[in-house]
Amino acid sequence: MKLNIALLAGDGIGPEVVDQAVKVCNAIATKFNHEINWTAALTGAAAIDAVGEPYPDSTHEVCMAADAVLFGAIGHPKYDNDPTATVRPEQGLLKMRKKLGLFANVRPTFTFPSLIDNSPLKRERIEGTDLIILRELTGGIYFGERGRKDNGDTAFDTCTYTKEEVVRLAKLGFEMAMQRGKKLCCVDKANVLETSRLWRQTVQAMEKDYPEVTVSYEFVDAVAMRLVQWPNSYDVLITENLFGDILTDEASVISGSMGLMPSSSIGVHTSLFEPIHGSYPQAAGKDIANPLATVLSAAMMFEDAFSLKAEAEAIRTVVNKSLAEGIVTEDLAGKNKAYKTSEVGDWLAKNI
Ligand code: IPM
Ligand code: MN
Repeated sequence: MKLNIALLAGDGIGPEVVDQAVKVCNAIATKFNHEINWTAALTGAAAIDAVGEPYPDSTHEVCMAADAVLFGAIGHPKYDNDPTATVRPEQGLLKMRKKLGLFANVRPTFTFPSLIDNSPLKRERIEGTDLIILRELTGGIYFGERGRKDNGDTAFDTCTYTKEEVVRLAKLGFEMAMQRGKKLCCVDKANVLETSRLWRQTVQAMEKDYPEVTVSYEFVDAVAMRLVQWPNSYDVLITENLFGDILTDEASVISGSMGLMPSSSIGVHTSLFEPIHGSYPQAAGKDIANPLATVLSAAMMFEDAFSLKAEAEAIRTVVNKSLAEGIVTEDLAGKNKAYKTSEVGDWLAKNI
């Protein structure tokens, strides 16, 4: 099969971790007889430095022409410390989500048997956790009307949702639940927010189309608590943009390492695959960052964008093997030998 993949390495450790995923994908292509055509394009601070724009039109064209996008990370400290900067790397990310129509962010949370004690949570709480948070990604307060009034002393951000936006995301949630544990949790704040009441009403009306799925409705504050108390009681959770942003960071703690968690963003035009971690600027260029989250995002890409399940499984198997054999970067090495980012990538490719 011919696979056209856009490669957006981005900032910080992005290029290093993406390099390892490319090695792994190329090894998979050789083993399974595929031909990958990679097209690199600029995003984030790297794109601002080069062309003054964090998501240039030329990058958008590359993404639109591709069958899938593999993404590293975005963000640079020189912008974090400057609240007056008018062009920021994160704007690129939001623009990309909107223009590619990446309406659903899929973040699985699971535990690795060999790393279960890395989690700050007790083993008996997290064992067996296998949940998916489905975060709406192109609506809500992230994209609503915002501004200042009263000479700048009053600020506002608005949260808006349409029924269509809720249906589109919830449909995906129901379908995923059908393929998994048949449980769906709609996370909202319907005791306070009108948008949440629209979410709840819309999801309730869809229940009849999925009689096998057990649906629960829970307030986001309660979910924030239960997610770390009994994560293994959840299967698929659906939620709006900002709640999802917060809950997915919280959920990453369960697995014990941000460096391991992949994600996908399902789009109207094309889908994007990226690690959930950020650009980790302190580690940039040092060849120490954990590449596994990006490698596992590539596994999601084979499965979800190309329906190549065996290829995805082959990646997951070799990742588990590297963890079991201790071929890991310093964040996971403990007292044992820490391997470089590039060494982990080489080892994975060789073992495929
Ligand atoms: C994420 C990030 C982004 C978000 C930031 C960088 C804009 O935190 O992908 O979760 O808030 O969506
Ligand atoms: Mn976030």
